[in-house]
Amino acid sequence: MDTGVSGGGDEKAEFDPSEITYVSYGGEHHLPLIMNLVDQELSEPYSIFTYRYFVYLWPQLSFLAFHKEKCVGTVVCKMGEHRSTYRGYIAMLVVVKPYRGKGIATELVSRSIRVMQESGCEEVTLEAEVTNKGALALYGRLGFIRAKRLFRYYLNGVDAFRLKLLFPQPYIHPSLLMEAHEDSIRRSSSDTIEVSH
Ligand SMILES: CC(C)(COP(=O)(O)OP(=O)(O)OC[C@H]1O[C@@H](n2cnc3c(N)ncnc32)[C@H](O)[C@@H]1OP(=O)(O)O)[C@@H](O)C(=O)NCCC(=O)NCCS
Repeated sequence: MDTGVSGGGDEKAEFDPSEITYVSYGGEHHLPLIMNLVDQELSEPYSIFTYRYFVYLWPQLSFLAFHKEKCVGTVVCKMGEHRSTYRGYIAMLVVVKPYRGKGIATELVSRSIRVMQESGCEEVTLEAEVTNKGALALYGRLGFIRAKRLFRYYLNGVDAFRLKLLFPQPYIHPSLLMEAHEDSIRRSSSDTIEVSH
């Protein structure tokens, strides 16, 4: 299904990636643009309170991509303390079909991750449907690992992978990192690496 926002069906849009502009969440006028994209492209239904929770509290972590005034992609995130770590979380990521495959999602996510890292996050997590090959490939390329498989996580009954990106820890001796890595491999199942805190 295509989004009404893109206005161009599923046909590939002709554009140069340099024509895409990226802005961080700039206020209430951006909210309907984000909601339109996410409602039409993600399987999970979200209420307006959920959107507001993210963009009001962490406006600096949400980005929109525009092509000639048209909103063609968005990422919505948050960050905060989780157990003993400070971590970022990617809640929603969408690029409309005609604009896919040109690096827009990569740029959106990278911008959010950069802000998270600058804000002191030690890791970034998200969930993706185990069947979502595109998202899994995208996050895999960015360095995310599959930390857990969550049984029937979504309302549609599909399992999720919890994906995790760990930032380098400059104060840990390399040999300790190696031990931790070997330990996590020992605990890994066929295609899933369990990471403990
Ligand atoms: C997933 C999604 C955001 C990707 O957007 P995009 O702008 O096309 O992504 P990019 O162009 O930045 O892709 C970067 C890389 O991700 C991988 N990738 C992205 N889409 C892919 C697909 N459909 N199949 C395989 N790999 C894919 C590729 O490795 C790609 O690099 P390459 O083009 O050099 O091969 C988009 O397909 C989308 O909105 N899907 C519906 C919503 C969704 O699933 N969101 C994620 C929820 S976790």
